[in-house]
Amino acid sequence: MSHAQTLPIPTLGQRPGELSEELARHGRTFEAWFPARATGGGSAIELYFAPGRVNLFGGHLDYNGGPVMPTAIDRGTFIALRPRADGRLTLASTFDSAVCEVRLEALPDQRTGTWADYPLGVVRELAARPGLPAAERGLDVLFGGNLPVGAGLSSSASICVGTAFALDRTWGLGLANEDRVAAALAAEREFVGVRCGIMDPHAVGLARPGHLLWLDCKDGSYDHLPIDFERLAIGVIDSGVQRQLARSEFNTRVEQCAEVFRVLGPAVPGATVLRDVPLAVVEAHASRLEPVLLRRARHVASEVERTFAARAALETGELERLGELMLATHRSFRELYECSVLELDVLVDAAAEQSGCFGARLTGAGFGGCVVVLVRAGREDEVLEAVQARFEARFGRRPLGGFFRGDEGPRVMG
Ligand code: GLA
Repeated sequence: MSHAQTLPIPTLGQRPGELSEELARHGRTFEAWFPARATGGGSAIELYFAPGRVNLFGGHLDYNGGPVMPTAIDRGTFIALRPRADGRLTLASTFDSAVCEVRLEALPDQRTGTWADYPLGVVRELAARPGLPAAERGLDVLFGGNLPVGAGLSSSASICVGTAFALDRTWGLGLANEDRVAAALAAEREFVGVRCGIMDPHAVGLARPGHLLWLDCKDGSYDHLPIDFERLAIGVIDSGVQRQLARSEFNTRVEQCAEVFRVLGPAVPGATVLRDVPLAVVEAHASRLEPVLLRRARHVASEVERTFAARAALETGELERLGELMLATHRSFRELYECSVLELDVLVDAAAEQSGCFGARLTGAGFGGCVVVLVRAGREDEVLEAVQARFEARFGRRPLGGFFRGDEGPRVMG
């Protein structure tokens, strides 16, 4: 393998080119990095794409068993691979000089501490599944993409689900969608060691073009709800605030919600997750919770109600109502779940003042990162420009933003 330089990580401000052309270019980069060699694996290069995701409703509900409404976005991970017949696996990225080279029959038990842990975790999940004979499973793989990394658009789920999809095809595993999602989730939780919820890999793996995914995180059932792109556009604006606290604060929220459920769960017959505890029960038992736990409980119970209301508003085409619900969610994040920061609040407030905007809220876990903005179709540039100007006047720098279409999910690109 030979490569001189890694590429800069894409930003939200860049408008991506035609996907098929970007993938074809990625294929050429692969050829430059991995010149055809005498490993007997043939010369055909396979190309794959897996999207990122943005969550519109159901904030911090997945690990509480509640409903969530994310959509896959039309930017994501590019994967180019070529089989090799010596049982070896090479994982490389256009964004990082760390390369992972392993033998498939001796996969490491310990994570490497690099980006490659994400695809390696998926390889570990799938390597023992029946399919192509083990000796023929060697691969050279190059990852790249047009998704900003670390912006809360789930580049990790994109790379994990994309890897599961690519391995399924190239190793002939015959997996169902749900199996690929489960392998991606297990890789992140068990190998990379992130305590992530189930939403992200489902949002990527079960995507349908032009639709939001309605995922019930209690029983795993799901459904697809059409988004009227004739009337609205989904924008994302990056506060530029690094999410340093996100990991530890996220884990604290997971523990606090578990504690709330230990206290209030027994008050609701048959309750198995915090989502089963309605707001009325939270209020009736308010004195039994520490103030901080009461705020968390109020967020979760009210967010469950808002998410059902958002589904109804989407189905009846009440986009103003949908926007109001997003703003109410953001207030709840700010005051009750305490996962917002000033920069995110300024972006949401600035968006809310624009007549071309239905609503906005932070997306992902919060503590920095991006806001998602629902904009009247045709008013995208005007709203983005006004929000950027307001933010710049306050903080002296211009935040980056972009608009997305609902993507169709992982697929073969050549
Ligand atoms: C992060 C997690 C998700 C979800 C969101 C909050 O993005 O990865 O599983 O919990 O935060 O809605």
